[in-house]
Amino acid sequence: MTGRIAQPDDAGIAEAVALLRAESVVAFPTETVYGLGADAFSHRAVGEIYRLKNRPSWNPLIVHVATVEAARELAADWPINAEKLAAAFWPGPLTLVVRRAEHLTGVGADNDTIALRIPAHVVALRLLAASGLPLAAPSANRSEGISPTTAEHVLRSLPDVPLVLDGGPSSWGIESTVLDLTTGVPTLLRPGALALRALRDVTGAIALRDTETVDGTARPSPGMSKRHYAPRATLILAKDVRDVEVDGPAGVLTYEGADLPGAEILSADPREYAADLYAALHRLDDSGVPTILVQEPPQTEDWLAVRDRLGRAAARTDLK
Ligand code: TXA
Ligand code: MG
Repeated sequence: MTGRIAQPDDAGIAEAVALLRAESVVAFPTETVYGLGADAFSHRAVGEIYRLKNRPSWNPLIVHVATVEAARELAADWPINAEKLAAAFWPGPLTLVVRRAEHLTGVGADNDTIALRIPAHVVALRLLAASGLPLAAPSANRSEGISPTTAEHVLRSLPDVPLVLDGGPSSWGIESTVLDLTTGVPTLLRPGALALRALRDVTGAIALRDTETVDGTARPSPGMSKRHYAPRATLILAKDVRDVEVDGPAGVLTYEGADLPGAEILSADPREYAADLYAALHRLDDSGVPTILVQEPPQTEDWLAVRDRLGRAAARTDLK
């Protein structure tokens, strides 16, 4: 069976709620990327997420909730930093890792933590409120693929998802920032839409993880395997793409001010660049070129999340 895109009107929301209550899955829009949602308490539904995405079982899921109170109920404790960050940035593109309440199992974490966020998208919030369920939701793409920023992207990557609620293109276009609050100093597990500077204004110092991740057992941020967010084409990230020699046709991605002939040109503003990045990679990949050359963005903190995703998309752990 193949999936369907539905408008997020009363009928669409009702259909989505019925699927979620029947322990099935539904893709829905968030302000970052589209998520593949399931009742976080249902082992069956959560198992369906892992099956559809072909996601390794060691990689836990973010649980989406409608209110701070609902988040606290899923946590064993609620540190002062969680209180302050939630007040400052929720609903919004920030995921907080805290100790997990004992009654909650099944979202994949094999330790005692849980990742939580309130998404800032009216459709996501309506779905959460109407279902009354905490929704486990990873990005709605096959594991290691490019995250979806439109309903069409979801069905192209995951044709068997029964229903996709269409909320238009995601406004941030890059995943949430993931911050671990179980460490003495809060630790950045994944750079994302919300800038580090904004977090520091609230919490003070933030520890950065080693950007090198090893595919071993120690996984402080389980999802941060090296090859991730990758197109089918080979992606080459270069300081100057004009220096790179490739066999055959190549797509080129750059940003304003570093213009190159025949290239897709994104904004020189990191937030706008991030908003368009995945759609541009989807387009270049769909054009069938075997190689995508990407002009490396500046090495400043503002570009941290974009550089992280491009670095992962370029990493090749396999020989294709
Ligand atoms: O913007 C987003 O965060 C999107 C939308 C749908 O909310 N979701 C998303 O989910 O990007 P996913 O599954 O693609 O990435 C979740 C990240 C992974 O790196 C995962 O390892 C990490 O969060 N994570 C989840 N639970 C965790 C936990 N208990 N401890 C540490 N990291 C965790
Ligand atoms: Mg993902």
